This record gives sequence, structure tokens and C-alpha cells, in this order.
Amino acid sequence: MEVQVGAASAFNDPGRKVFDIGGVEIAVFRQGGDFYAYENVCPHLGGPACQGKMLPLTTEAVQADKTSIGREFSKVQMNIACPWHGMEFDIRTGRHPFGKNYRLKPVKVRVEKDTVYVTVPANPLG
Ligand code: FES
Repeated sequence: MEVQVGAASAFNDPGRKVFDIGGVEIAVFRQGGDFYAYENVCPHLGGPACQGKMLPLTTEAVQADKTSIGREFSKVQMNIACPWHGMEFDIRTGRHPFGKNYRLKPVKVRVEKDTVYVTVPANPLG
């Protein structure tokens, strides 16, 4: 079942909105002008992963001798951090960086004439 969730122009970029559609929580993200959607269920222990902080991927730059030269914040990758235990997921893929088995369940999302549509999964996780 496909439903409208609002105007694309009403989303911040980067930004996110979480919807309860008939008891299924779906998060819609906007990043770099593109839209992504996931079920709001963390693959770790079922927390509301999509309602955590959005933050740029943070890496630590090190020199050849392994001394740190400070943190770097990605200009292209934003992550969502689950509020329960802090696992982070790439907003563009839903994947956790170190575990192939840890991935947010994607939901089909499309934009047509400034309206955002999502397809509610037939067999939701939560
Ligand atoms: S439930 Fe999300 S990190 Fe544990």
C-alpha cells in the first residue's frame, strides 16, 4: 500500500520525519536532495533507530606513526545513531559500517511533483 507522507519541500536537507502509518513506523530521510526510507526498527535489539541523532560520519586521521591529527567529519555521509545503544547506520544505505547483518530495513520511497510517497511493507518488523 502506497501512501503520501507530505511535501518534499517540507523536509529539511539533511532532515528526517518519522510517521506512524497504521501502526508501522516509517522514517523518511532527505539527504543531498535524495530521499530514503526505513522501518523505524533497529536491527540490534529493536530500538527506534531512526529517531536518534543525525550526524556526519566521523573518522580519525592518523599519521604514518599512528599519532592522531584529529577528527574529520564527512561532507557526504550522514549517519543515524540509534538512541538505545548508539549503533550508527548510513542514511543512504541503512547499513552499519562493520556488520553486513546490521541494516535498517528499507522502505520504497518516491517523489512525484513535490509529494513524497512510501510503500508500507506487507510484513513489517515492528
Ligand atoms: S537497539 Fe539500536 S543500538 Fe541497540
